[in-house]
Amino acid sequence: MISIVDMDDIDEGTSKGLEVNNLYMFTIKKDGQVYLYWNRCPHLGTPLEWEEDRFLDADAALIQCSTHGALFQIEDGHCLAGPCKGKYLQAVPFIIENGMVMVDEKLLKQPTSL
Ligand code: FES
Repeated sequence: MISIVDMDDIDEGTSKGLEVNNLYMFTIKKDGQVYLYWNRCPHLGTPLEWEEDRFLDADAALIQCSTHGALFQIEDGHCLAGPCKGKYLQAVPFIIENGMVMVDEKLLKQPTSL
C-alpha cells in the first residue's frame, strides 16, 4: 500500500488534487468522511478542477466539472446534471491506516474505460 495523503491535510468541506506516479486523483472530506476519485470527467476524460484543489461547486455540495459544468454527488460520483448525466466518476479504492489514506499500488493505473 502507498500512502497518498494525510487525513489531517484535507480540510472539512473541501477538495484536494493528488498526483501519484503521474496519475491524478482528487479527494474530498465531507462530514468527516473521505472520498477519492480519479481526476477524469466521464464526459470527455478531462481533469475536473476549476483551479488547483477546487473541485466543488459554489456551496461545496456537489463536485462540478469545470469544462461543461456537470454536477456529481460527492458520496458516489453519480452525475446528476450535465452532458454525462447518469454516469459516474470512477472511485479509487482506499483504506485509512494511522490517519493516512492508503491505496494499493496495483490499483495505481489510469482507468481504461469511462
Ligand atoms: S468534460 Fe466534464 S462536463 Fe464535459
